[in-house]
Amino acid sequence: MKILVLNGPNLNMLGIREPDIYGKNTYKDLLAYIKEHCDSKGVEVSFYQSNHEGDLVDAIQNAYFNKIDGIVINPGAYTHTSVALLDAVKAVSIPTVEVHISAVDEREEFRKISYIRKACVATVSGEGFASYTHGVDILIEGKK
Ligand code: DQA
Repeated sequence: MKILVLNGPNLNMLGIREPDIYGKNTYKDLLAYIKEHCDSKGVEVSFYQSNHEGDLVDAIQNAYFNKIDGIVINPGAYTHTSVALLDAVKAVSIPTVEVHISAVDEREEFRKISYIRKACVATVSGEGFASYTHGVDILIEGKK
């Protein structure tokens, strides 16, 4: 099974940005954490991060051509604004889990809106880095 983990804007700043919300661990730490989990489950994982909406659309489209089985995506702030990411996930029909480090539904009103959620098989939020591995597990379960 091949899983793609996509991260949107400012997630490369983990460890620096608002550590009280997102924690002290870095983006590199996040990738190592997810990789270890995927290795233990026999899942092939690849990663991509961009601060640019169109690049994330390209990455979702490429997942289709690269025969990726599932996507775990943290769209960052694009969660709350992007119809383009919603349409991209709909276009490729790859099972996708939306994840967030923080509990988006318990923060500002604007963070309660998610466009991409409509195209996702599940949403995991508020579990810190474990939101991602939980997302991976949901995709593995769905594949069985
Ligand atoms: C986030 C939550 C978003 O509201 C925010 O814009 C982010 C990170 C999270 O992982 O908690 O950049 O997706």
